[in-house]
Amino acid sequence: MSAPSRMSTAPDVEQAVAERYSAGAQAVEAALCCPVDYDPRWLQVIPQEVLDRDYGCGDPSRHLREGETVLDLGSGGGKVAFIAAQVVGTSGRVIGVDINDEMMALATSAAPKVAEAVGFANVEFRKGRIQDLRLDVVATEQWLAAQPVTDLASLQAFEAETARQRRESPLVPDASVDAVVSNCVLNLVATDLKGALFAEIFRVLRRGGRAIISDIVSDTEVPAHLRADPELWSGCLSGAFQEEAFLHAFEDAGFHGVTLDKRDSAAWQVVDGIEFRSVTVVAYKGKQGPCFDHDQAVVFKGPWKAVLDDDAHVYERGVPTAVCAKTFQLLRSAPYSGQFELLEPVEPVDPETAPVFACAPPLSLAGGPSAAVRRPLAGRTTAISFDDACC
Ligand SMILES: C[S@@+](CC[C@H](N)C(=O)[O-])C[C@H]1O[C@@H](n2cnc3c(N)ncnc32)[C@H](O)[C@@H]1O
Repeated sequence: MSAPSRMSTAPDVEQAVAERYSAGAQAVEAALCCPVDYDPRWLQVIPQEVLDRDYGCGDPSRHLREGETVLDLGSGGGKVAFIAAQVVGTSGRVIGVDINDEMMALATSAAPKVAEAVGFANVEFRKGRIQDLRLDVVATEQWLAAQPVTDLASLQAFEAETARQRRESPLVPDASVDAVVSNCVLNLVATDLKGALFAEIFRVLRRGGRAIISDIVSDTEVPAHLRADPELWSGCLSGAFQEEAFLHAFEDAGFHGVTLDKRDSAAWQVVDGIEFRSVTVVAYKGKQGPCFDHDQAVVFKGPWKAVLDDDAHVYERGVPTAVCAKTFQLLRSAPYSGQFELLEPVEPVDPETAPVFACAPPLSLAGGPSAAVRRPLAGRTTAISFDDACC
């Protein structure tokens, strides 16, 4: 372990990460490898030099579907992007974003080989910082080369240019992707930029889209002396979220249905008694917006006595519960589909005249008759969930 140094600011973190992954792109670094079982079907067309530089800790590509537009944050040598490209197929596309030139060179040189092997080209790599997905770093570097910052006036011109560029030609536009994936990267972003990072993931997803993130988390808070170590930070350890805080970060960004899809029982590494392990989290975008009453109801089937959603609604097992039209749509879709009986009114409500639904204040988990019980139920039809509809 190298001597501790200051790692409290974003530039310190970015420098340590840049040095580590420039080296890791050129020569395989065993310390960065966390064993992952990828589906061997997808690996056959990926060049060996990319497979050798597998610095991931999970497999978010397992959750992708044909036809989707996918954004891979911290795409590195491109392995997950190339797997995703095959899963989404010719009707889908994949965009990898990474800040490291050597990693970008590895990925972009492999892309034509993968395209030739699969017979189509649907992957591109864009240079950017994942906590600032509006900024096109190549365009910014070109602008800076022509107009270096030397004084206050040129600094102001630079700031005006980057503001214009973020606004008029963002690297990744708002609501432009179906799925954001990332494999062992979020932990590398400086602590004070992690909020911006989650806000960016949320921004670029379309409504109904989802984030599928594999990353290293810690079982307890990482203490300051470990956070100060650049080797541990760039090695995907000391910038890790504490595991509950990781889930809260998705909630705070506005996601719902945050699901711990995979949590390795064995620690990847233990440092000073702190366990670091890989998890994969899936989280959904789409609970924001107004609430209208379409006279719909849901019945939670159990087996839990009650459950609480990300808008603090309580659903008691077996109790017909009134929900707004937006929540009804959410509960008939992943990740909730199949857990609720979905009841439509006898007479459909005209969306143009539907009254506002009082979704707040939240119900209590204390039990007893719920304020949102919907009765009578006679004659109601059962809606199918969207996942059922797909089959
Ligand atoms: C641990 S490697 C993972 C690479 C790849 N996802 C994989 O599974 O092999 C981390 C990658 O994230 C990139 N990276 C780290 N911080 C970044 C940031 N703030 N913005 C963009 N890329 C970043 C690094 O350059 C590196 O390629």
